[in-house]
Amino acid sequence: MRKNIVAGNWKMNKTLQEGLALATELNDVLASATPNCEVVVGTPFIHLASVASAVDTSKIHVAAQNCADKVSGAYTGEVSAAMVKSTGAEYVILGHSERRAYYGETYEILKEKVQLALANNLKPIFCIGELKEEREANKQNEVVKAQLEGSVFNLSAEEFGKIVLAYEPVWAIGTGLTATPAQAQEIHAYIRSLVAEKYGKEVAENTTILYGGSCNPGNAKELFANPDVDGGLIGGASLKAADFKAIIDAF
Ligand code: PGA
Repeated sequence: MRKNIVAGNWKMNKTLQEGLALATELNDVLASATPNCEVVVGTPFIHLASVASAVDTSKIHVAAQNCADKVSGAYTGEVSAAMVKSTGAEYVILGHSERRAYYGETYEILKEKVQLALANNLKPIFCIGELKEEREANKQNEVVKAQLEGSVFNLSAEEFGKIVLAYEPVWAIGTGLTATPAQAQEIHAYIRSLVAEKYGKEVAENTTILYGGSCNPGNAKELFANPDVDGGLIGGASLKAADFKAIIDAF
């Protein structure tokens, strides 16, 4: 059976000290809890090693928010998948709409990143989702299909089995607008049907598909109650331990 996951995406927030304080607080509130989902925190690169050694990594799994599309060498400022792995991180968020929009990450670049992540035993959390204009033109299905075909449907079934998908409608990210539970369920079911077409029913049933976009303690329960919504990728609400814990408790 597929895993339910609640993953935080801190984005470019928190100094190292602030991030460590947040991770430690979360570790403390989870110490006596038994979450009904896997908990992941996606931190900036510089926090990864410190957070991974400060928390109980059997309970809090650490994710990077990006990795390079090259193995190693003269790529000033880049961080490779092998480097991410060496910090103790287990996951890497790839294809986030902010990376696609602001850093020019194309389908081809993302394809390389996903492959390098897998080659280094990192589990990609691969983000897909449509823009507001695309939703208004009812093009969300073709957009997510192209994103999957462009960057991850080249994988073998075994490789695909290691990735987590995150559906994040761009119009819902950081805007306070959330997809309705019905909108989320509809497109998650469609995404699962695409995976089934490509890799078969068993792989599709085992694929975790997260929802992201203004998910918060007030709406998480309704969103996660849908059969094809297997958790959330949480931005703003992952920056406060109490809010993030409340979302974890939605399971
Ligand atoms: P948000 O961000 O929860 O702040 O909308 C979600 C994301 O971008 O992953």
